[in-house]
Amino acid sequence: MLEQATYERVRNLRGIKWRRYGDDVISAWVADMDIPPVKAVAEAMIPILQDGDLGYNIDLAAQLLPAYAAWQDRHHGWNPDVERLRTFTGSLQALEAALWLRTDPGDGIVVFSPIYFPFLNVIEQTKRRIVDVRLDDETWRLDADRLESAIDSTTRMILFCQPHNPIGRVFDEAEVSAVAEMAEKHDLLVVTDEIWGDLTLTTPHRPLATMDERLKGRLITLGSASKTFSLAGLRCAVAHIDDERLTEKLDALPMHLLGSSSTVSAAGTLAAWTHGDEWVASMRDHLRARCEQLQTRLAADLPEVTMTSPEATYFGWLDFRRTHIADDPSKHLLNEAKVALSPGITFGAQGAGHARINFATSAEIIDDIIDRIVELVRR
Ligand SMILES: Cc1ncc(COP(=O)(O)O)c(C=O)c1O
Repeated sequence: MLEQATYERVRNLRGIKWRRYGDDVISAWVADMDIPPVKAVAEAMIPILQDGDLGYNIDLAAQLLPAYAAWQDRHHGWNPDVERLRTFTGSLQALEAALWLRTDPGDGIVVFSPIYFPFLNVIEQTKRRIVDVRLDDETWRLDADRLESAIDSTTRMILFCQPHNPIGRVFDEAEVSAVAEMAEKHDLLVVTDEIWGDLTLTTPHRPLATMDERLKGRLITLGSASKTFSLAGLRCAVAHIDDERLTEKLDALPMHLLGSSSTVSAAGTLAAWTHGDEWVASMRDHLRARCEQLQTRLAADLPEVTMTSPEATYFGWLDFRRTHIADDPSKHLLNEAKVALSPGITFGAQGAGHARINFATSAEIIDDIIDRIVELVRR
């Protein structure tokens, strides 16, 4: 069912993952997979191009909303209200819209670090304030007391990432309950980015919308096919907006300000949500195998570098603090081992001495990456 990630394929790709660095570098940084997407995506997009069927088309984009709702129902037991769903050109666009329209400069926005660094950039760029609630750096659990003491009268929003990038945690009932309790107590908006929800390895994903009644009326759920099917270039996402004031403010915006996804990208995304079920199941098996391969190879050949056991996502969070490249692991790895990982420090202060590896690739490429890392650390 899955096609292979080969060097021949990745060296010919046009995207930033394999183009940013030289042909001697193996790339395992940005969140794109090396495996080709499910064939149904191209099969839906190519006829539109071949037929020159590129006039105005609003039906396809409208079909995305029920298709997303049906996907959530089949995979996660959540029945989103289609009336509350909106399309966006990316999850970050939906997040920026929520921040821009529902908070003010200086307002506190809670994040649980280490965290997907564009969240931090977005908060800073919009002149809101990062309220950093660090995850426990051994268990990677959310600390309810730390959350409570970080919140004050200027806090407006909790920005959640379920499952969590970069750690790969799926937050459990108790952790979500702590978030819901604080949200209710301090009247906070909760944005939950669930675009990793389909790529689970050991723990099922549960949408926050199904987990706690106290989140009702204050929850914005971000969804996309971009991570599940590696379609980030299509620029298509949805948000389920259970917050009347955000809906009102979005409706009051000039009609074209946020733009819309193209006919071709809507067709590809729709095909993925309609025909991608088996492919995702195979992908999860593949990712489990690659994760195990990474952990086994590290334990055997480089035990001083430890890796998290992700419950979801295709990321390993590697701890290089016991090696001679601890001061800036990703820089040393790129320059001296020709391996591109994501620098841990960009995800927050706890990321010092760490790097994030993307293991959505082939067994051969993982082996080559580990060989290069071992060679440098042993040098
Ligand atoms: C947690 C998270 N949110 C959002 C994004 C970006 O999504 P989009 O391209 O839909 O804006 C990513 C990309 O890796 C991500 O990991």
